[in-house]
Amino acid sequence: MPKILVSRKISDLAEEKLKKEFDVKLNLKDEPIPESELIKIINEYDGMISTGFDKIGINFFNNLNGKLKIVAQVGVGYDNISIKAAEQKKIKVTNTPNVLNEAVAETTILLILAASRRVGEAYNLVRSDNWKNQKPDLTKFMIGNSVTGKTLGIIGMGRIGRIAAKSAKAFGMKIIYYNRNKLSEDLEDGARYYSDLNSMLPECDFVSIHTPATPETKHILNASTISLLPRHSVVINTSRGSTIDDDALIDALENKKIYAAGLDVFNNEPNLDKRYTKLDNCFVLPHIGSATHETRLAMSMMAVDNIYCFFNNKPLISEVI
Ligand code: DGY
Repeated sequence: MPKILVSRKISDLAEEKLKKEFDVKLNLKDEPIPESELIKIINEYDGMISTGFDKIGINFFNNLNGKLKIVAQVGVGYDNISIKAAEQKKIKVTNTPNVLNEAVAETTILLILAASRRVGEAYNLVRSDNWKNQKPDLTKFMIGNSVTGKTLGIIGMGRIGRIAAKSAKAFGMKIIYYNRNKLSEDLEDGARYYSDLNSMLPECDFVSIHTPATPETKHILNASTISLLPRHSVVINTSRGSTIDDDALIDALENKKIYAAGLDVFNNEPNLDKRYTKLDNCFVLPHIGSATHETRLAMSMMAVDNIYCFFNNKPLISEVI
């Protein structure tokens, strides 16, 4: 029976399913396994179910003794895995695309509304019992910006970007997008394409990032690109922290070069740059984009199914390499 390491707690049903077919080692403490520890133990296993918390880099692959054959990531992103090293060692890598599209798109809408309507400030005011100390000024008290009718610029019009666009349209938002390639009219669904990011940014009331973390998308929003955004604009990120240069965004927020930001992802998570947490115009979440019962179950099941397919010589459901 192949031995499978599950690096973090996954949904109960998925663990049960896995245990029926495999000799499974669960992470009962549900604490991230440090890289050095993972490297020490991984050679006992034929397969691994991983999450974005695991550092599966060059050291990990260089240390393998030939037993491990597959890493099934619970997550659509796999920037924690060195794909090149996996390829060299002929280790299969799978991920969990599609099943989380709606949940991440919901989080995008949540951030759009929260950042533009000052939800963080408003919530803190009530929770700290300070509402009663405020003047109920009709034109000043917690006044934010409307979303309806505004333009949303999407960077990376993949599966999640397109569902976020569809939901944003329910608020009457106009959609424009920057992508490596122009989509078919069918997939564009009325959105206007920009082949050049710098031309799109001045048109954005909101800009939302939906690209994977790659060398090309690192700091796609930086001092120079942020300077092209209008002063009333709002930056949204549910993709990966690395797409934003923190110094540049924090400078823009502190100096009101843009209106606000809504962020679910950060560089160096969970140790995000503390300056974000001090800014009234920045609404922050702890990377909960896909965190719904339904979605985490579907992601867990997909990883288990990939392991099942691999060891039963069936086509993989979602193969990265
Ligand atoms: C992903 O799937 O990559 C998400 O960021 C995990 O929540």
